[in-house]
Amino acid sequence: MIVVVQCHIIRNAGAIKPTAADLASAGESSAVAEPTRCLPHSTPLQEIQDMEKGVRIADLFRDEHKYVGKRTLVQGWVRTKRDSKAGISFIELNDGSCMKNLQVIAELDHPDYSELLKKITTGSAIMVEGAVSLSPGKGQSIELSADRIHLYGWADPALYPLQKKRHSFEYLRQIAHLRPRTNTIGAAARVRNRLSFAIHQFFQIHGFHYIHTPIITASDCEGAGETFRVTTLDPAQPAPEGGDPYMSDFFARPAFLTVSGQLQAEIYALALGRVYTFGPTFRAENSNTSRHLAEFWMVEPEMAFFDLEDDLDLAQTFIKNLVGVALNDCQDELEFFARFIEPELTGRLQAAAESAFEIITYTEAIDILIKSKEQFSFPVEWGHDLQAEHERYLTEKVFRKPVGIINFPRSLKPFYMRVNEDEKTVAAMDILVPGTGEIIGGSQREERLETLLEQMRLKGVSAEDYQWYVELREFGSVPHSGFGLGLERLMQFITGIPNIREVIPFPRTPGHVDF
Ligand code: 4AD
Ligand code: MG
Repeated sequence: MIVVVQCHIIRNAGAIKPTAADLASAGESSAVAEPTRCLPHSTPLQEIQDMEKGVRIADLFRDEHKYVGKRTLVQGWVRTKRDSKAGISFIELNDGSCMKNLQVIAELDHPDYSELLKKITTGSAIMVEGAVSLSPGKGQSIELSADRIHLYGWADPALYPLQKKRHSFEYLRQIAHLRPRTNTIGAAARVRNRLSFAIHQFFQIHGFHYIHTPIITASDCEGAGETFRVTTLDPAQPAPEGGDPYMSDFFARPAFLTVSGQLQAEIYALALGRVYTFGPTFRAENSNTSRHLAEFWMVEPEMAFFDLEDDLDLAQTFIKNLVGVALNDCQDELEFFARFIEPELTGRLQAAAESAFEIITYTEAIDILIKSKEQFSFPVEWGHDLQAEHERYLTEKVFRKPVGIINFPRSLKPFYMRVNEDEKTVAAMDILVPGTGEIIGGSQREERLETLLEQMRLKGVSAEDYQWYVELREFGSVPHSGFGLGLERLMQFITGIPNIREVIPFPRTPGHVDF
């Protein structure tokens, strides 16, 4: 009883949105721009420090004053080596811990390593020991003068595919086992890591419980029929005609890889209040576009007692927080992307972190598109889905900032979305961002038993198969809402990388499942 009363107090006090008090109690600042330091850098455990066989280059640059004048050991992969006429070899060493290379100064006729030095090539893995000093040269603050070098693994320059030049992204996809050693893919991996951690931080700070929803499921949440089947049946030995083809299958019924953890997240939201799931998601949509993958990562919060407006507020706060984390903690990577991929990147991200998103209804969006007189390839008409070209026009040309579109036609959206009073639309929301289009899809869920059953009838979803989902509306049903954010779409938005295949380590797309 007391718990119920508390829930209401929290809700009525407006704690739906993370308040400054929420954040302060968790030791965080509510300001988007506040740095959210990555724990591994600031609080290395003594035991781990003792285990280290050398210094990470990121730590060297971070604590330069600590290392200058000291003997230090570093390990990594040679990006370039250049021999000068003055008898010195300059090696650019990268260990993946950060964007920066460490410049190693080696003497061409050093008695201990001159023979070995000749062998070192781009791509070789080496260990170097020597003194760190302030660098007189341009482009780097410190350098390391080698007095000992060890070659772990040589890379044959006649065969090593990553030579010192710009390679196309298409080419790099074919060598996904080597491409993380490039600046772009390495930087994307570090940003992706930081954002994944920030996603957990955000929800943990705001009282959400992390739920592991299943990867194998019998349901198709989105009802789009884009599921991958999971089976142990041998296609070369089909079941005898007339019999139940699933009788001898592993689960004795059709099973699939999940397209969304939402339905199971709802179960836990209706018990634990605020939950989220974050994991791989699979869709067999045959779209070969720059924003679709067959396997992608989705983060899906689900909140009891939240209506659509609360859902929108949370989505907006969440995106702004993630953009703020990237701006603060991935500065070198974002500078690199701004230099080589999208010059306006930082300004665009700062604007997204600071300005309020534009919120319009689907009907308003259609009006704007019709009045625009723009030539679109797909028709603009009430009742038709918004295509990527329409989404991008709205967010890039009309509003020039993130846009939330709400209240879509009932006919366009899945069975679980809450039917609005007009009975023609549902309490859906899509969030679109410049450059990428839709990054979030969500809704208030239909919590009324009769309306849900009617929705299921209309959409051809079997109430028998989803009996457990229906029962949630029979026993202690409450208004609730949630959304799904595609991690790769967020990555595209934050890095400016144009193709989704570069922001996931191993992209799965039609015809491509290598590595
Ligand atoms: O809009 P979607 O289909 O929504 C759902 O799956 C809901 N069940 C989520 C929820 O309410 N819990 O997908 C959500 C997001 C999209 O906005 C997009 O960012 C991403 O998932 N997404 C994809 N990303 C990459 N490749 C694909 N094929 C994607 N399909 C969806
Ligand atoms: Mg969607």
